[in-house]
Amino acid sequence: MNPIEQSLSQFGADKMFRHLDRLADWQNGRWPFPVTVELDLTNACNHHCPDCSFSYLRSQSKESIPGPLAMSLLAQLSDCGVKAITFSGGGEPLVYGVDRVLRLMRLCRDLGMDAALITNGQRLTSDEFLSLCSWVRVSLDAYDEATFARSHGGSPDQFHEVIANLRRMCAAALWRKRDSLPCATVGVGFLTNERSVYESDFYEAARFAATIDGLDYLQFRPAITNGVADPTCCGGMRKPLPKPTVDRMFDAYQEASERWARDDFRVLLSADKYDAMWRPEFGRTYSNCHGSFLQATIGADCRLYICCHGQGRNEFCLGDLKDQRFSEAWHSDRARNVRRSINPQRHCTPCCRLHPQNVVLEKIRQPTTHEAFI
Ligand SMILES: C[S@@+](CC[C@H](N)C(=O)[O-])C[C@H]1O[C@@H](n2cnc3c(N)ncnc32)[C@H](O)[C@@H]1O
Ligand code: SF4
Ligand code: SF4
Repeated sequence: MNPIEQSLSQFGADKMFRHLDRLADWQNGRWPFPVTVELDLTNACNHHCPDCSFSYLRSQSKESIPGPLAMSLLAQLSDCGVKAITFSGGGEPLVYGVDRVLRLMRLCRDLGMDAALITNGQRLTSDEFLSLCSWVRVSLDAYDEATFARSHGGSPDQFHEVIANLRRMCAAALWRKRDSLPCATVGVGFLTNERSVYESDFYEAARFAATIDGLDYLQFRPAITNGVADPTCCGGMRKPLPKPTVDRMFDAYQEASERWARDDFRVLLSADKYDAMWRPEFGRTYSNCHGSFLQATIGADCRLYICCHGQGRNEFCLGDLKDQRFSEAWHSDRARNVRRSINPQRHCTPCCRLHPQNVVLEKIRQPTTHEAFI
């Protein structure tokens, strides 16, 4: 399998076919509960990434989900058959408090749900995340002090602190794996933009990440705007890029991967998102977010959103979990109306979370000739 195909199978649409029960419900006109829910505990953050797609949330408020409500939400989600919780943001989940997040993850485990963490790594101070999470991804977006200042607005000391946390956690992961103990996959994320091709970011990021013993992977993803709420977000795209620019990104990725990937360290990219970047309408062949039954986001304002990209926006809000139970909000008239009214081609950020799933589900929805003949 070439590296792009490999990336597709880890982050692409095919994973949803592991949840055929949900797909069958959707196909039959029912609206199943989601497989995964992103829980954004706080909008506060200790970094200042200039291109953060959620910076507008912090200018609105630095809300957090009250502890008792967070615990109750986890129990409700488990009752609805949700299988996994991603702790992310919004802001930085560990600003909520490392011990508080660990407590919630232990509750996930006790309720039979998987947990995962997306963090900037600044407060990644406990190795217990390795035993409680299926995966931990550190949004590094840097390979030295200068690139860290550029991407996270952070000081050299902060950069070295993040790297020290990451190295310590990866070393602990190696020990756990050697002792055959359950252990989270640990990866780093790297957001790229057009500059990345000229500044060798792909290559340098892979070269640096390959020096972190025990790190499982580095994943490249394109920086995007949220497309609706903050048109000034400078990391993203307002219109598709020229195809040759995207081809250069694929080439840069290939070069980095061929040089630095090893059996125990993968260099990945969200191929479907890069591919969508140059296509007319960003490859959106669908005018409904069909896949929104697969996942949802609970924001730090305790509201339920159709996906992470819609946070803080009424048009994307399915309900308020301060006043409603999750199951009630999920199947409410309001939720139905929101899902019906969102046209991804008009309202949504490009290269969004559910783009690959929506492409496939649109094909399933469309009538086809002689469908009984395979
Ligand atoms: C907003 S962050 C919250 C969690 C944590 N603070 C962090 O940075 O990992 C969640 C995810 O959004 C990604 N993200 C932030 N700004 C983005 C942008 N402009 N385009 C694409 N992804 C972005 C981050 O890389 C991270 O993977
Ligand atoms: S660390 Fe995460 S939430 Fe904080 S500014 Fe950066 S991308 Fe945004
Ligand atoms: S199309 Fe994308 S941005 Fe729009 S609602 Fe669906 S997941 Fe969210």
